[in-house]
Amino acid sequence: MVYAKEEVIDWLGDAYAMERGLEVTLKKISEKQSHPAEVRYVASQHLEEARRHAQTAEWLLKTLDADTSTVKTSIGLMTEGLKGLETSLARDEVIKDLVGWHAMEHFEIACYRAIIAAAESAGLSDVTDACEQIIFDEEQMAEIISDSLPRMVQNYLITEKVSKAA
Ligand SMILES: [Fe+2]
Ligand SMILES: [Fe+2]
Repeated sequence: MVYAKEEVIDWLGDAYAMERGLEVTLKKISEKQSHPAEVRYVASQHLEEARRHAQTAEWLLKTLDADTSTVKTSIGLMTEGLKGLETSLARDEVIKDLVGWHAMEHFEIACYRAIIAAAESAGLSDVTDACEQIIFDEEQMAEIISDSLPRMVQNYLITEKVSKAA
């Protein structure tokens, strides 16, 4: 299954670029003073995880005799999902950031599932194990966002109402 291995290498390169791109996005979210402290804290925690995911992808590529020096950091199917995640200065930017971020976690999950399927075909159990672990982190992150979103919207609406009434 030489083709499957080639795809695994290609997609791991995309995943590496995706995680590096997400590091930038998560850092921005974690530093936005207008965001609630809770959102900034969770973003800083997941930033550390994204760094670890990038390191894992890099390590896996090395074990497959590939490296990240040739990875295209701006192109690649798996980085497409990053587009539109960063919101401009809008009143409701925290909600938009959370919605985009939630979508991105599911995008990551789908990417790693694709890699796992190809890795299984190629008999690369190190890759499947590592990607399963990454998916666990992404699923937890998606759940946290999904659970907090209704409350964040309620808080946002209250703040808006107060500021409009003032
Ligand atoms: Fe990740
Ligand atoms: Fe993630």
